Amino acid sequence: MRTPILAGNWKMFKTIQEARQFAREARAGATADGVQKVICAPFTALSALAEELQGSQIALGAQNMHFAEQGAYTGEISPAMLVEIGVKYVILGHSERRQYFNETDESVNQKVHAAIKHGLVPIICVGESLEQREAGETEAVVRRQTEAALSGLEASQVRDVIIAYEPIWAIGTGKSSSAEEANETIAIIRQVIAAFFGHQTAEQVRIQYGGSVKPENIESYMAQPDIDGALVGGASLVADSFLQLVAGAAQK
Ligand code: 13P
Repeated sequence: MRTPILAGNWKMFKTIQEARQFAREARAGATADGVQKVICAPFTALSALAEELQGSQIALGAQNMHFAEQGAYTGEISPAMLVEIGVKYVILGHSERRQYFNETDESVNQKVHAAIKHGLVPIICVGESLEQREAGETEAVVRRQTEAALSGLEASQVRDVIIAYEPIWAIGTGKSSSAEEANETIAIIRQVIAAFFGHQTAEQVRIQYGGSVKPENIESYMAQPDIDGALVGGASLVADSFLQLVAGAAQK
């Protein structure tokens, strides 16, 4: 049995003050059993959130990190810096980072290795653009991204990573992928993992869907056999909406 995981990706939203407010509103309500709850906040809000969420069921995630231990990388944050704050998860290879910050399959792979080395759980994002989808390349793209991100890992390490399938055309557009289509692509990702790391490992890896997930549609995704949760942007920014998403994910 895979435990569902609902993660909010706040992107570049919320000051420290706003993050504290969210945590005070959400922490008491985030008690649903059988679902892991994560908030991936901007770096500046992580320390304050660690304080506000202490003793709650909501775990802390970051949205990116550098792969090096330390060094002359102006503006970057290392894995150890995140661990020190109490961060448990880190989103890697989000399409916005691939698109606007030149992240490549190779750098995502380096980051995945670094995260695991430091005991952080990577939430690895894969997904096709509208252009790629229309050209019939969805399967090839997610295969390539998944294979590259996990390259060089042991099956025992892959077991604990989280993959988020986020079709780029569904992010922040209100155009969500149908639950059936998302499930089909996620099943392909699971096949890729099975081919490289064995069937048992593939059955253990949790794969989320992301892209315009809302309280109104989360249950349709969770009803699919291969979808183990959601990575949610816009609808994770308001405490009440986040709690509804958690409740929806707990239906699994
Ligand atoms: P939205 O939920 O706002 O579409 O964003 C999805 C996303 O990119 C989560 O990482």
